[in-house]
Amino acid sequence: MKSIMFVCLGNICRSPIAEGCAKKLAKEKSLDIVIASSGTSSWHVGEAPCANSIKVCKSHNVDIANYQASQISEQDILEYDLLIALDENNFNDLKDLGAKKVVKLGMYGYNSADVPDPYFFNGFEGFEKVFGMIEECVWNLFEKEF
Ligand code: 4NP
Repeated sequence: MKSIMFVCLGNICRSPIAEGCAKKLAKEKSLDIVIASSGTSSWHVGEAPCANSIKVCKSHNVDIANYQASQISEQDILEYDLLIALDENNFNDLKDLGAKKVVKLGMYGYNSADVPDPYFFNGFEGFEKVFGMIEECVWNLFEKEF
């Protein structure tokens, strides 16, 4: 497997965190993998990640400040070796778009739980929880797949 893409709804909260964690881990493990993220919606295309995602990543030495949101394309669906959905809605949307190789991030250590959408959270605390969950699942994903 050479390329993976993390997919959430807006590509501004959860999947950029996953992309950042995965890129950091790939670097630490000297793995040559293409790692990206996108959203199923077009709502935030071109925007930077949300402030709390940038902040929580920064506090864990993960720099996502320069990421720009994109919407998943048909080409992405064909080209990436594995699409990793952050929640069940994202998973179902990817299946509806015809994606074949799709998993849920929560399969890797959280009994397939959804990574909760922090966009509507009040305050910062939820982002720490979401970061912890994503970081652990990404770590387990690398152990299993690479
Ligand atoms: P994400 O969070 O899918 O983790 O990037 C969201 C971002 C924006 C919206 C919903 C979820 N929104 O409704 O605009």
